[in-house]
Formats: sequence, C-alpha cells, structure tokens
Amino acid sequence: MINPVYSPVSDRYTNGIRYRRCGRSGIQIPEIALGLWHNFGDVNPLTNSFEMAHYAFDHGIVHFDLANNYGPSYGSAEETFGQIMKKSFAPYRDELFISSKAGYDMWPGPYGEWGSRKYLISSLNQSLKRMNLEYVDLFYSHRFDPNTPLEETMQALVDIVRMGKALYVGISNYPAKAAAFAYKYLRDRDVPCLLHQCRYNILNREPETEGLLDQAQENGVGFIAFSPLAQGLLTGRYLDGIPADSRMAQERFLKSSALTPQLHASLLKLNEIAARRGQTLAEMALAWCLKDSKVTSVIIGASKVSQIEDDFKALENISFSPEELAEIDALVV
Ligand SMILES: NC(=O)c1ccc[n+]([C@@H]2O[C@H](COP(=O)([O-])OP(=O)(O)OC[C@H]3O[C@@H](n4cnc5c(N)ncnc54)[C@H](OP(=O)(O)O)[C@@H]3O)[C@@H](O)[C@H]2O)c1
Repeated sequence: MINPVYSPVSDRYTNGIRYRRCGRSGIQIPEIALGLWHNFGDVNPLTNSFEMAHYAFDHGIVHFDLANNYGPSYGSAEETFGQIMKKSFAPYRDELFISSKAGYDMWPGPYGEWGSRKYLISSLNQSLKRMNLEYVDLFYSHRFDPNTPLEETMQALVDIVRMGKALYVGISNYPAKAAAFAYKYLRDRDVPCLLHQCRYNILNREPETEGLLDQAQENGVGFIAFSPLAQGLLTGRYLDGIPADSRMAQERFLKSSALTPQLHASLLKLNEIAARRGQTLAEMALAWCLKDSKVTSVIIGASKVSQIEDDFKALENISFSPEELAEIDALVV
C-alpha cells in the first residue's frame, strides 16, 4: 500500500504549545524541541522516525535539532530527516526551525572535527545535502576548540550566514570565557549569537553554577537545554530496572554504572514529588527546566511517540512552590 501523503493537523499551533523568544532576536521557538541524536539513525525503523516527527509537528514542535554525526551511522539522522523533509515536510519548510552542528568527530583526518573554517563549512555543505535543505535555520559550533583561534571559528559562522547557508548561528558547550568572546565577536559583525546550547537538568546544574544562564541573558542570547531528562534517567524508565529497549541497555552514551543505588533512591523520591504534582517524572523534569525564563527551550529525545506525548504534557504546569524546589534540591544537590 502506498502511504498517504502527510497532512498536519490544523490546530497544531493552538493545542497547548507555547513559544519563547531567543534572547534579543526576532525568533521564537517552541518550549519543547525534538532532538534527533538517538533513534533516527539508519539502525532505527524509519516508520517510527516519521511518526515521531509527524507527532511533534502536529503539536507545534517546529524546532528539530540535529548534528552532522547523529546516527548511528554518522550522518544518518540527517539523511532520515532529509527523507522526512522530502516526503512530509517540504510544503511546510517555512514553518520549521531546523538546526544542525559541527564540532565533534565526523570524518577521518585533520579536517573532520573541531573548529576550523575548513571543517565547519564543508560539514555544513554535507549536512544540507543529506537533509534536502537549501539552508538551515540555525548552525552551531558544537564545541569550543582550544587549538583553533576562536576568531577563525566565529568568522566561519559569520560567513556561513553571509553565504545564505544558515539564517542564524549559535554555540554549544562553550565555557563562559569563550562564550563571552563569541558573543562579542558575532555581535560586532551584526550576526548575533542566537542560542547557547548546553546540558541542563535537575541532576546537572552546570549552566547555573558556571553562570552560563545569566551570561546568555545579559548578552541577549537565548539558552536551550539539551538532555533535560538526563538521557532518560529523569523519567520512569529506570525506576524498576533497565528495560531491554532503553538507551542504558545499549551501554553507549548512558552507562548502567550511572544508576548508582543512591541515584536510584533519589529518582524514586523525585518520582513521588512528581506524582504529588500530578505529573510523571519526565513531565516534572522538563517543567523544572522551563520554570526559569532564562531557559528558552528544552530539546528532548524520544524513542517512541508515547514519550513525546507524555513530555508535551509538562507544559501544563511549569510552576513550582519554594518548598518543592527545596525538596528537589535536597535530593540531588
Ligand atoms: N549540543 C550537544 O552537545 C548535545 C549533546 C546531547 C544532546 N543534544 C541534543 O539534545 C537532544 C536531546 O538529548 P537526549 O536524547 O539526551 O535528551 P533527553 O530528553 O534527556 O533523553 C531522551 C531519552 O529519554 C527517554 N524518554 C524521553 N521521554 C520519556 C518519557 N516521557 N518517558 C520515559 N522515557 C522517556 C528516552 O529514552 P529511551 O531511548 O531509552 O526510550 C529518550 O531517548 C539530542 O537529540 C540532541 O539534539 C545536544
């Protein structure tokens, strides 16, 4: 049977989604974005990837976050997204906000990672082909490169915008000092940094303690949190063991050694707090990030539609009492 052509639901912008402005810019992005780091590679069932992308767009989740090496194999998440673009999303290109990145290992040899102009520009050219796109909405330097002059990396971002290959640029995983340099360099060339993307969740407070949240706000830059569910730890997934189909069972990016008895005990207690709030642990974990107006958005990952459905419900209650916050802090900080 030929699959019917995808037709998005008409109430996709009014069924609960909200948008926040990225710093001092004209761009608003949904409070929840969908990331394609896991579960969209060529090892994953394509129909499931299509279903998750459709579900997201049908709920106003118009921001899809990728990187050159998401898969596995490297590049294959972008290829999957390219197929979704071609078969489903092409008529809606202008409703979408698509980001990609370069910085980590992508191809062998001296030009396949880090922050040179050579790597960033050739990587983006490859990404555009894989994704069937003429431009990305946002292109990130995926990590700070201590061995390349930051001027070179930032000038490559400026030129990428001037060439029309990206509408906006951002940085990811930059320490505060390098971020300060980047913000100024880009602002001085009228290509202001749109977003800083970092890991931030109940268990990982570095953007707070390192001052990255305040710094982004002071510079008119948005902040977007990745792994807001700590790769699944902050969900119901690991409360009763390690499911065979979970990320932890793969022992790649999330190791079973992370689930110490102490953390497991904290997760059970966090789950109780969530239940009192009438939320799942995943919903509460996302709400916890979004309670702070300095956080523009959270990028979730998912392996099935039902997870996105659950995560989306987080938006129904993102406020916390001081007592709840103190209780959460006491469990994890
Ligand atoms: N800039 C960077 O360096 C960087 C680094 C990492 C990630 N990112 C971006 O951030 C995105 C998200 O990262 P992440 O995948 O680590 O995010 P995450 O949202 O913390 O974790 C996603 C995982 O949590 C589980 N999950 C999600 N919702 C659930 C629910 N309602 N109930 C139960 N389990 C649930 C799923 O695990 P299972 O797969 O086990 O079902 C899912 O794959 C990436 O796709 C990428 O775009 C960027």
